[in-house]
Amino acid sequence: MWFRGIAVVCMLIGSNATSWADGDREAGRDVFAYSAACIACHAIGCTRDQAPKLGGIIGRRAGTDPDYDAYSDAMKSSDVVWTEETLDAYIADPAAFIPGNGMASATGKLEDETQRRNLIAFLKEPDNSVDLCF
Ligand code: HEC
Repeated sequence: MWFRGIAVVCMLIGSNATSWADGDREAGRDVFAYSAACIACHAIGCTRDQAPKLGGIIGRRAGTDPDYDAYSDAMKSSDVVWTEETLDAYIADPAAFIPGNGMASATGKLEDETQRRNLIAFLKEPDNSVDLCF
């Protein structure tokens, strides 16, 4: 009987893993700034030469930051709209999700699911406290 209990608990934990509301936004800021170092190229509140800005990324169509003029054709023609799910897939494996995109060779895969979930929680409600705008 407890066997079945464990199965149910595992299912609950499993379904939790896809609930974006569970991401830790503060931890996600650290992923953005330190562990995954997205700020090496991206900022939230300004567009840098290195990469498009990520403020307001949720709900935005890929390749449409008006101040960034170095998008790849792959990104511009990808037809992707950034949601929690598409961001997760892209960050997990940029080259596989949008083959030929310009971030593929510069950045590795962020394989840690918890880090991705936290990062996405931050990107849903970002602030520019760690921005490097130059
Ligand atoms: C070495 C520089 C660099 C790093 C580090 C980097 N990116 Fe990028 N990113 C880029 C470039 C360049 C593009 C544009 C790619 C293209 O046009 O094909 C991009 C594009 C994106 C886009 C699509 C933006 C849009 O306007 O459609 C998202 C989302 C994104 N990056 C998220 C991240 C996240 C999250 C991290 C950290 C895990 C990260 N990037 C780390 C350089 C970088």
